[in-house]
Order: sequence, then structure tokens, then C-alpha cells
Amino acid sequence: MGYLQIFLTLTLFSVIAFTAEATKHRLIVGTFSTNFLYTVEYDDDYEALSLVAKTQVPAASSWISLNEDSTKLYGTDWNAEIPTFVSYDISDPTNIKHEATIEAGSDCAGSKSVFVTARRTAPYTVYGNYYYGDARCSTVLSAGSGALSGILQEYDYAPGSAVHGTAFSPDERFLFSADTKGNSIWTHAVDSVSGTVSLVGRVPGPSADAHPRHLAAHSGGRYLYAVLEGSSQVAQYEVYGAGALVYDGVVYPLLSEGADAAVDFWADEVALSVGERYLWATNRAYDEQKKGYISAFELEPSGAIARQLFLLPTSTSGGFANSVAASRFDDAIVALTDNSTGLVQIWHVDTGLVASLDLDDGGGCCANAVWLD
Ligand SMILES: *[C@@H]1O[C@H](CO)[C@@H](O)[C@H](O)[C@H]1NC(C)=O
Repeated sequence: MGYLQIFLTLTLFSVIAFTAEATKHRLIVGTFSTNFLYTVEYDDDYEALSLVAKTQVPAASSWISLNEDSTKLYGTDWNAEIPTFVSYDISDPTNIKHEATIEAGSDCAGSKSVFVTARRTAPYTVYGNYYYGDARCSTVLSAGSGALSGILQEYDYAPGSAVHGTAFSPDERFLFSADTKGNSIWTHAVDSVSGTVSLVGRVPGPSADAHPRHLAAHSGGRYLYAVLEGSSQVAQYEVYGAGALVYDGVVYPLLSEGADAAVDFWADEVALSVGERYLWATNRAYDEQKKGYISAFELEPSGAIARQLFLLPTSTSGGFANSVAASRFDDAIVALTDNSTGLVQIWHVDTGLVASLDLDDGGGCCANAVWLD
């Protein structure tokens, strides 16, 4: 072979290698009761999921979330006696390193950590919520260098509150909290220097049985979506001026006609696709013999929900999960996690279920997933 041929061959190889690389996307998946984090890879070309690493960690995380550059992972410690949060270095997602465990919330007896999310802008503070027992408290944690480093603020909602999920406004000036037990959505202003929060207001759920669970905020700033655990619906709120919320009457079902939201289901998650063309939402069944649901909605450029594209049964009940995580590379693709049998799936907005991976870890997997790339 001449030099030119070798050069061309090498160039061709690197082009192929690069193309192949770009079709692989990694996720980390948490568990409820076994102390593992799973690193999973999705190959977009072959529509296949595979397990890359299984890491033993000090906590089972019912919820995990990333810092702004995806080098750190924050998690709840689902089985701790008092609300506790953990953080990991995930710069190498096949070599996850535990960095910190922070105990919080001694005022709120009997509750446990249930949700955690981080600011994507300075001061990169982390926001944790509690559930069960007296769960009216929440906490703001510092994470200056990425690892959790301490408690900045403990704040209360109201007696009877239990916040299961939060979302920031696009500029992160406001934190919206879905108060599932208190059937309301709260707005707090976030101090952009310290990261601490102060109360702005509280609005009720769209109906007495709604019980908002998780939220997603459109980048246009005008719309906030809530998944309603109690009534198995997705509701649209409008955001005005200084974080004021108004339910605008737009609501869609997350179960088929005749199914009983109150008895059989507890809707789970709502997620915006990366380019915000779609909104995804999921529902879980209590009974393992029943199936959960996955649904996608088409959005107008303003963020207003234009229509419900489909409502399909999932292959399992979902158990405690049936969480949906939007991919970072394709509006059409999400990951779904179930803990009734312990699996991760990939769903496509046009073709439905495209890939499935069982993670049989002995009864803890899977809680939620985060996409790394
Ligand atoms: C799913 O998670 C819940 C909550 O921790 C747990 O009680 C249940 O046993 C898990 N399901 C399975 C099949 O492991």
C-alpha cells in the first residue's frame, strides 16, 4: 500500500469511528432499594440498549439529577432514616465516585428525601424535597465545586405539604414546587447570588383530586406543565410577571376511558423534549397486573399544548417508576424506567417502543434515568 492509500484508509476509518461514536448515548439509572447506579448505552443506529457499568454506591436513589456540565450526579438516599442527599463524580461514567453524603431535615420527622435538582447557573445550588411523614420541609444545599458541601437553607411549605418535584423558570429566577399532598403549586424566588429561596405564592391544583407531582417549564417562559398524580392528567399553567401561576383550563388524560384514576393509577412524570417540539408524560398502575401509560403531546412554538399525539399502554405497570427522561440528541426519543420488573426502555414519538433492557438487580431497579450525552 502506498502512503496515499494508507492515509485515505486511516481517514476513512476515523470518519467511520466518529460517526459510530456519535450514535451512542449514555444514561445513568438509579434504584429504589439496592445500592447501585447503572450506566447504560443506547446505540441510535442499531436501536439497542446495553449495560456498560454497574457501580455499587452507598445509597439507593429514588431520584437522580445532573449538574450543569454533567460531571456530577446528585441523588436522594431513599432508605435513610432522615432526609439525606448524596453526590458523585461522574466525569468518567464507568468509574463513578461517591463524594458526599449530607443529612438534612431533622425538623420534619418521619420523612425521606424524594427529589433533587440543581441550578444550571451560578451559584449551582441544589434543591432537595421530602416525602412521607411530616414532609413540609425542603432544603437548599451548596455545591460550589460540584460536590454537595452543606446545607444553605431549610424552608417550610405548609402543614400537610409534601413536594414531590420542582422545576426552575428558564432564567432560574423562580423555583416552582409541585406539592402533591397539599394539592398545589408553589412559586419561590431564587436569590441569584446565594441560591436561597423566598416565598412568592401558592396556587391550587386544577381540581380537588389533582395532586400535582412533577413539573416542566417551557423555555419561552410562558408555560408550566404539571403531571397530576391524583387525577392522572397533564395540566397547563401560564406564568405571569413575577412567577405568578394561572391554570389556563388545558388538561389531558393519562389513562384510557373507563379506567379509574383514583383507584388504579398514580401518574408519574412530565418531560419536555430537547428541542421542545414535544411534551412527554407517563402514568403508573398500582396493580402489577395492570399496565401504565406513556403519552406525547405536540407543542406550539409558544409552548402551548397543541394536541395529544398518543396515549399507549406501557409493557409493565411501572411499579414505583415509569419515569420518562427526554434524550439530549433527538426530540423524538425518550428513556422510560420501570421498577415493577426492573427495566429501561427507549421510546420514539413515531414508532413507539424501540428498545428494552432488563436490569435485574434483585428488586430495586429502576427509578429514574438521566442522559449524559
Ligand atoms: C419498587 O420500588 C418500591 C419502592 O422502594 C419497592 O417497595 C418495590 O419493592 C420495588 N419493586 C420491585 C419489584 O422491586
